[in-house]
Amino acid sequence: MPPTTTPPDREAPAEAPIEALLRRRWSPRSYTDAPVTDAQLASLLEAARWAASCFNAQPWHLVVARRDREPAAHAAICECLSGNNQAWAPQAPVLMVSVARLDFAHNGRPNRHAAYDTGAAMAQMAIQAAALGLQIHQMGGFDLDKARETLGIPEGHEPRAAIALGHPGAASALPEELAQRETAPRQRRPVAEWVHYGAWTG
Ligand SMILES: Cc1cc2nc3c(=O)[nH]c(=O)nc-3n(C[C@H](O)[C@H](O)[C@H](O)COP(=O)(O)O)c2cc1C
Repeated sequence: MPPTTTPPDREAPAEAPIEALLRRRWSPRSYTDAPVTDAQLASLLEAARWAASCFNAQPWHLVVARRDREPAAHAAICECLSGNNQAWAPQAPVLMVSVARLDFAHNGRPNRHAAYDTGAAMAQMAIQAAALGLQIHQMGGFDLDKARETLGIPEGHEPRAAIALGHPGAASALPEELAQRETAPRQRRPVAEWVHYGAWTG
């Protein structure tokens, strides 16, 4: 069994059997100062690399900012975050921005699957992080234009999410309101609400 830093109350209370890593993945807001090693980061990137994608186009890019190695970029990503996210994400030792290439490299046509495929790659990264005792927290709350400008993201590419990466820390290290969210029960819609056998129902 891989190492786990997922507190028992953060494990997904799944109602049908699922793999342990899927239950252990969650989106923390508290991170310790422990660095993410080069080997760990390499594993995360490799996990993303092997995601499925339309035409195998692999439209994702990732801007990675390690606080100890790319401090200016780390600070720049912090500056792009919404106020809510700025309250906790700067603590993470690694911040990233996922980016989708909007056309197919092989024919220049628009790739309407670019966001879908980029999300799939990040989902694989999230599971690999959980396998290593790390976690990622994806954020839609950031200024796309500012990220594009300060990180030099070229035309034809769209920032999709800011992502915090690190070792989960104690909820008690967070301000009160965030600490409460960090310990609130994890919830999901019931499967029956969104699965439609045969045809759309309900
Ligand atoms: C595309 C995307 C955008 C998100 N944006 C934010 C955000 O801006 N701020 C935040 O705190 N969490 C954000 N989240 C995290 C979700 O709130 C979180 O995944 C959800 O509540 C389920 O919790 P879990 O990941 O711990 O299972 C985002 C997640 C995704 C996938």
